[in-house]
Amino acid sequence: MTSSNSDRAYTMGRSKEETERLIQQSGLYEDITGRLLRDAGLFTGMKVLDIGSGAGDVTFAAAELVGGEGEVLGVDMNPEILETARTRAQAAGLANVQFVVGDAQTLNLPNDFDALIGRLVLVYLPNPADTLKQLATHLRPGGIIAFQDVDFSTYSSIARPETPMMNQLAEWGVEVFRRSGANVGMGLDLYGTFVDAGLPEPSLQYAAPVGGPETWIGYQFIADAFRSMLPLLEAYGIATAEEVDLETLAQRLRTEVVASKRPLILPPHVTAWTQLPT
Ligand SMILES: C[S@@+](CC[C@H](N)C(=O)[O-])C[C@H]1O[C@@H](n2cnc3c(N)ncnc32)[C@H](O)[C@@H]1O
Repeated sequence: MTSSNSDRAYTMGRSKEETERLIQQSGLYEDITGRLLRDAGLFTGMKVLDIGSGAGDVTFAAAELVGGEGEVLGVDMNPEILETARTRAQAAGLANVQFVVGDAQTLNLPNDFDALIGRLVLVYLPNPADTLKQLATHLRPGGIIAFQDVDFSTYSSIARPETPMMNQLAEWGVEVFRRSGANVGMGLDLYGTFVDAGLPEPSLQYAAPVGGPETWIGYQFIADAFRSMLPLLEAYGIATAEEVDLETLAQRLRTEVVASKRPLILPPHVTAWTQLPT
């Protein structure tokens, strides 16, 4: 990746609907994230730094693990989404979380965190290894590093003749990510990113939500993702609003997948975790 942040467009946009979609997405991926945080070794009393915290879902999952004796600081460069995160934390009665506005690439924080975590954020950074190396300086010796990211590099292999619409959507989605400057292979690149950052080799998992029933939330989730991506899909000339047809997208996808009698795989996420020497 050679582009700088200023060349980039944030692929999913920053609308209220996108914030809602992030919260819904967390429901679909919460098992994968929960496993990551537990496998990485988060436990009671830890002080955790969550990078690119968005609407707060990963922060809240970490807060549950560290309990009232621990604390979690969420950092995001988008002040508006942090307002949503704060409102949600207050509504949930979470006293052990805080949110601050900041850029992952230029953070100035204490160096006594027990764990550094982040989901779906390294994918948007131009130099993730450099940033990770810098972020790891906020950890005490023996600190934990756990990141989760999407991997589209393997997603095209889901193409099947009986689901032409899904094949088309996967192609459009991957292309808009690529064109916006995001790393479409970030999930599997987590391994090299940790190594290039000078961190101990991480443990890895690869997982994706899969669903087939007519009532599954995944069809609407894909349609909502396309709602967020539509401005860039059109700006890059990848697809028009008429071709995407947001209003009927979820239903058309549901009909196609149900008729194919094979379940739909949502974009896979890779998790990577390691620990600094003590
Ligand atoms: C896809 S969202 C993920 C939010 C949350 N981690 C989750 O999984 O629900 C990515 C978030 O990273 C934030 N972000 C992107 N680049 C960032 C940077 N350089 N520094 C801080 N936050 C960043 C965005 O503002 C956005 O809220």
